[in-house]
Amino acid sequence: MIRTPAPVVILISGRGSNLRSIVEHRQRGELAIDIRAVISNKPDADGLRFAQAAGLPTAVVDHRDFASREAYERALMQQIDRHAPALVVLAGFMRVLGNAFVAHYHGRMINIHPSLLPAFPGLDTHARALAAGVKTHGASVHFVTEAVDGGPVILQAGMPVTADDTPASLAARVLREEHRIYPIAIRWFVEGRVTLRGDTLYVDGRPQSGPVQA
Ligand code: GRF
Repeated sequence: MIRTPAPVVILISGRGSNLRSIVEHRQRGELAIDIRAVISNKPDADGLRFAQAAGLPTAVVDHRDFASREAYERALMQQIDRHAPALVVLAGFMRVLGNAFVAHYHGRMINIHPSLLPAFPGLDTHARALAAGVKTHGASVHFVTEAVDGGPVILQAGMPVTADDTPASLAARVLREEHRIYPIAIRWFVEGRVTLRGDTLYVDGRPQSGPVQA
């Protein structure tokens, strides 16, 4: 069966290594997506330069240009919706999103987070995981809902924490897993294998009570 590539918009704020991984999977023919735009809230994001070099359409919607979060998010929504995406992919997009924005993309916006959610939502996850003395750590891909880093988890990858780990060593190992699992989750979504109905995650038509381990 020939599948039409699903239109996707990717939001970034910085380095863009997850963006790069997604693009590389697409280039290898492993991800049937059409990246309609890469949008950053930061004009100097390294990921924007990568996207431009890769020939992808880019846009900047700088939150500092708007008087309120509502105005910013309305403008961002307009930019995104011009491309009629089937999926909005947050790849290191470092803005907390308001309820109207999140509701607008309910069931079609996903995020990657560097922890085994629901453990360690928010920032500095690697240092917090070490301080808490956890034995395993990892990364999660989840649908975005009103609760920050709190939506249903689609896929996660865990790894042991070792005695000599530092936040940097842990971050590097987790990032490798992020680069592996985000394209998988995106593929499942565009193949229709993963859906969100209400607040319930369905994989292959079955309601899930927990994330799939990858
Ligand atoms: C990643 O660790 C991701 O999990 C988090 O922000 C970081 C983005 O990294 N949401 P990059 O911009 O994809 O390199």
